[in-house]
This record gives sequence, C-alpha cells and structure tokens, in this order.
Amino acid sequence: MTALMDRDALEALLAFYRDAGVDAAIDEQATDWLAKGEAEIEAREEARPAARPATRAPDGERPSAPVVQRPQPVSAAGAPPAPESAVVSAREAARSAGDLDQLRAVLEGFDGCALKATASRTVFEDGARDARIMFVGEAPGRDEDVEGKPFVGRSGQLLDRMLASIGLDRRANAYIANIIPWRPPGNRTPTPQEIAICEPFIRRQIELKAPELLVCVGAPSTETLLGLKGIMKSRGRLMPFQAGGREIRAIATLHPAYLLRSPIAKRLAWRDMLTIRQTLGL
Ligand code: URA
Repeated sequence: MTALMDRDALEALLAFYRDAGVDAAIDEQATDWLAKGEAEIEAREEARPAARPATRAPDGERPSAPVVQRPQPVSAAGAPPAPESAVVSAREAARSAGDLDQLRAVLEGFDGCALKATASRTVFEDGARDARIMFVGEAPGRDEDVEGKPFVGRSGQLLDRMLASIGLDRRANAYIANIIPWRPPGNRTPTPQEIAICEPFIRRQIELKAPELLVCVGAPSTETLLGLKGIMKSRGRLMPFQAGGREIRAIATLHPAYLLRSPIAKRLAWRDMLTIRQTLGL
C-alpha cells in the first residue's frame, strides 16, 4: 500500500497516527493468523502449558499450591507465553534476586511480559535506596520510557512538589518505583494479566528495599499491593503491609496525574502528605 502513496499522503498518515497516540511500530506488516492455517494454531496451543487456577494467597504474594520449577517461558511460535506460566516464572525470577541490583538485572533479562517488547527500556527505580519511604506508582509513560526513571514527566514534577511540601526529596530521602516497569504502548492501562506477571517483581523490590513506609500512588498500585478497590475510600489510612517476613506500614494516596486533572482533590492529597510526615516524624 505504501508504494502507491506519495510523500504528502505518507506524512499526513504519520501525523494522523501521532495525533491518535500511536507511538510504537509493533511490526512492519499485519500478521494474518487465519492465513497461517490450522497447523500453526495447533502448534501454538500445544506449546501452552496446562492452565492452572489463579492461586493467589490473601496477601497476594505466594500461591497456596506448590510452585513448579520451570525455566523462562518460551513458546514455539514466538508468541507471548501463556500468562499462568509467565506468572510462575516471574515469581521464581523475582525470588532469585538477593539485592536490588540483582533484581534489576533479573527484570532486564525477563521476557515473560509482552510490554517489554514495545518499551524502550526497563524503568526500575529512582531515588535514594536508603530512604525510609518508598512510593509505588502504576507504569512509566513516554517521558519515563525515554529517561529510564519513574515519575519524571508532568506527574513526576507534581510528585516532586508533593514530596518537597513535607521535606522529602527523591535525591536524598525518597525512593520511587512502579508496579509495571515497562511502558504500555500509547500509555494504555496495563491489563490484569500484565499486572499479575509484574507483581512478583514489585513485591520483591519492596522486600529488598525494606522501607518503613510504603506509599501506593493511585488506584492501580493500591489495588495491586493493598488489595483495596476505590481509591477515594482507601486513601489516607495507615495499614500494615507484609514485606517478606517483615511488617511495615502502608498508605494509599491520589495519583498526581489525577490531581493535574482535578486540582480540587489536591487538598485530600495534602492531608495524606501530612499523615506521611507525621508517621515518619519529619
Ligand atoms: N505515572 C506513574 O504511575 N508512574 C510513572 O512513572 C509516571 C507516571
């Protein structure tokens, strides 16, 4: 099709894609799976491990059934692995890391989440590793994907101002990560499967970082890590959180992206910041 289009038409098409939020070329040509025939579809099905029920324990951390030792997921047809096997591999990979540097390396070598293929880089952490407080957001956006650090775009600048309001600074005494380390294409919401695959890594990161206080920034982080739905009623309350064998404290607050859209809600976020300040005795 492109051979028949002149330069102006191609530029107009590109502008259309850009304005529509398209920012990742997945493949040069669309794959016609139907044309590939039954044999290939069967081969893909056979390559899938038997489905296992989702067996998340109440703390969201370990399956109640014994974990089967499996190698990194690979599929015969190059398709993303079935989520169940990817979650098992993610748990094993995350557990194998003994410190934050190892966890970063494990994550960079993990191919069980399709988001990695479209992201430019793994966005692992920013801030002070010895901080008493850890903030966990949702997923990198475009700016974070470019810089390789969480919360560096507009939301990040607002987060920095929120931190500064109670005497925190990511370069000195705050540590920041996300539940998803790879930018979802076009900043779409991560799917429940993508979150399930990435969850063991962020849980291990919290365990290894061992903060005194965990702050879940926004609804997806709050739902994933604290198991609480409804950010408006969940925010601002201190609660216990199991980080490995240690109990720490956790609190949810509103996401700065939401505050940019609804500035009136900043007063609620301010109350949360005051609770954080009081908890840490700042
Ligand atoms: N929003 C997030 O949740 N995380 C980032 O890193 C950036 C924006």
